[in-house]
Amino acid sequence: MTETSAHLGLGDSKVDLPVRKGTIGPDVIDIGSLYKQTGAFTYDPGFTSTASCESKITFIDGDEGVLLHRGYPIEQLAEHGDFLETCYLLLYGELPTAAQKKDFDYRVTHHTMVHEQMSRFFTGFRRDAHPMAVMVGTVGALSAFYHDSTDITDPHQRMVASLRMIAKMPTIAAMAYKYHIGQPFVYPKNDLDYSANFLRMCFAVPCEEYQVNPVLARAMDRIFILHADHEQNASTSTVRLAGSSGANPFACIAAGIACLWGPAHGGANEAALNMLMEIGTPDRIPEYIARAKDKNDPFRLMGFGHRVYKNYDPRAKIMQKTTHEVLGELGHKDDPLLQVAMELEKIALTDDYFVEKKLYPNIDFYSGITLKAMGFPTTMFTVLFALARTVGWIAQWAEMIEDPQQRIGRPRQLYTGEPKRDYLPISKR
Ligand code: CMC
Repeated sequence: MTETSAHLGLGDSKVDLPVRKGTIGPDVIDIGSLYKQTGAFTYDPGFTSTASCESKITFIDGDEGVLLHRGYPIEQLAEHGDFLETCYLLLYGELPTAAQKKDFDYRVTHHTMVHEQMSRFFTGFRRDAHPMAVMVGTVGALSAFYHDSTDITDPHQRMVASLRMIAKMPTIAAMAYKYHIGQPFVYPKNDLDYSANFLRMCFAVPCEEYQVNPVLARAMDRIFILHADHEQNASTSTVRLAGSSGANPFACIAAGIACLWGPAHGGANEAALNMLMEIGTPDRIPEYIARAKDKNDPFRLMGFGHRVYKNYDPRAKIMQKTTHEVLGELGHKDDPLLQVAMELEKIALTDDYFVEKKLYPNIDFYSGITLKAMGFPTTMFTVLFALARTVGWIAQWAEMIEDPQQRIGRPRQLYTGEPKRDYLPISKR
């Protein structure tokens, strides 16, 4: 017996389970043989103690508030790089050289248009449809338009599908927005960078010249970097699980978008802004803090708490700085929502309930205020998250497909329903 095994006693059986070490982070007990050896499953609803895969992409230390992509701290990527550089890093594992970056930018940029037939697809939706509903439908529909990149066994097709999704997601997101507000679609403009192009597709109209504000374009780019990947969160796990059956990448990303929509995950930025608007003024904060602490009240402070971060979310710190930059640029420094947010943060960071439970502001706490100031309606917030997270989903999906250990994901269960019983004819029930 070595120190790299864990020992489990179950009834009369004694089992040694190998312990695997990562480069950093907690060790994992490999329970792959447990059922064979003992006939028992493990039980871990919500997967709080379960590593679902081996990955080399993203590392989080929730206690220390650390987020690394391929080893690089998120603060450095957000400060010095741009979103497409982060995309390259996530997909290929290394930062690009100048020539690689130029080539990657070119390849992404020249996939930004969507098949013209897609634009007619949009008109099937009601104008008042939530843009996330439109995203789930239209991104899933990409698999009906790009048959030449759905063979997941071909590495070239996998890369083409990846570039297509990174490139087309801003176009589709902007189309969902334009359709929602009844304005004509704006085609991509390839001499603009990724984020400036996206802002133009959202906010330009054919009857006026549109000048991209560089401060807002940089803020948009940083928001995309901050959302690019976050290891095995709910939507990423959904993408991996959907992909484990061999489903095509467009369908898998549509599954991820569906999962992201929920208020406990990507929908939290919309919920956080709605909450700040509901609170309205700093004097009402104590009432909401009391509600958040009340066990009989389902209310939670949206934008606070995280399954993994039990310290300040490192993304939230960068987001807070970006919020101040954007509001300063737009002359909204006195926005009452910002006052409520700053006061709420101050109180929650010193309140015993939040301190004891380690509930810190997460990225969604500040992103909503910023996006609202930039002109996005709340219904678009989660769409922007989906746009940015697409590269993370794709990188994780590709890693899974390339993993020789990869098998279909098939969890087991603890069955607590009726044991076997005989069917009774309806007249005897
Ligand atoms: N307000 C008040 N109490 C809270 C909150 C909150 N926002 N979050 C957690 N708690 C309490 C919770 O009631 C529980 O208390 P107790 O132990 O007394 O029962 C304790 O803290 C632990 O909470 P949990 O629900 O067991 O923790 P979790 O890891 O399952 O949930 C979470 C994590 C993010 C879903 C949760 O903190 C939450 O609902 N936060 C608000 C929604 C939000 O901001 N989500 C965005 C997450 S960041 C973006 C992303 O990655 O998608």
